[in-house]
Amino acid sequence: MSEMWIQPTGGPLGADVHGVDLSRPVSDAVFRRILDAWSEHLVLRFSGQRIDDATLMKFSARFGELDRVPIASADVDSADSDVAPEAVDWVNVISSIKKNGKAVGGLGSYELVWHTDMSYNPVPPRASLLYALEVPPDGGNTGFLNMYLAYEALPADLKRAIEGRTCIHDASRNSAGELRQGFQRTLDVRQTPGAVHPLVRLHPMSKRKALFLGRRPGAYIHGLSVEESEALLDALWEHTTQERFAWYQKWRIGDLVMWDNRCVMHRRDAFDETMRRLMHRTQIVGEPVLAG
Ligand code: OGA
Ligand code: MN
Repeated sequence: MSEMWIQPTGGPLGADVHGVDLSRPVSDAVFRRILDAWSEHLVLRFSGQRIDDATLMKFSARFGELDRVPIASADVDSADSDVAPEAVDWVNVISSIKKNGKAVGGLGSYELVWHTDMSYNPVPPRASLLYALEVPPDGGNTGFLNMYLAYEALPADLKRAIEGRTCIHDASRNSAGELRQGFQRTLDVRQTPGAVHPLVRLHPMSKRKALFLGRRPGAYIHGLSVEESEALLDALWEHTTQERFAWYQKWRIGDLVMWDNRCVMHRRDAFDETMRRLMHRTQIVGEPVLAG
């Protein structure tokens, strides 16, 4: 008998999964309960884990096909990371740690703005799993927003204004809002490079509607003038980023946190760059975006 139990955070999303040791095989029955809890709470936290990359990959792959790690940016030397050779294509290092002047992983110690992972792609990932190996004494918390609630709580005029509309998701900037290598600054948001998605997204499993914003910089709503699009986006973002839709994860070593990238946005607080933070991360391939 499993002693697994689910403890909601008490916030608008997120739950702890207790009584599951991920270093041991997870039965199909327990896994089904994990899936149900994930569907209900959108973000799950498994605390006190001690797992290696192979185990992280194996557990992640039960949620869908593992996604390859993105190409590292020029200031990252992945050869200096501690990822096992057989895992380097599937486990991404997120870290502030430097060795010989080069970062061992991505995303440094700076603030990350609210975003959906890789929504600038036509088929954004389904989920990400982030496992904490080293954490700073404070700062570097990760916030999550419940985008079902954000949609449902929209004032009627905003709901009407976005019905059937699509938005460009900017591929030229990273989750810190900085310009990526090889991209030009866009002066006219109608020319922003990136995938176009419906603003209201139907979740393929829950069949619920979620607001799908991706990230603010470079966004543009089709069929509107630039001024109208900017005003509508500002109103949507002001509504969505209210604390009543958010929950923050304060990391401890051994936390594995996974989020549903189809109905959750996330951000990260900055932290002291001299402090070590080391995360190993997997990502699950997604499915085509359905309009809600
Ligand atoms: C990510 C991300 C946040 C963090 O890995 O996609 O946004 O807390 N990370 O490091
Ligand atoms: Mn992210």
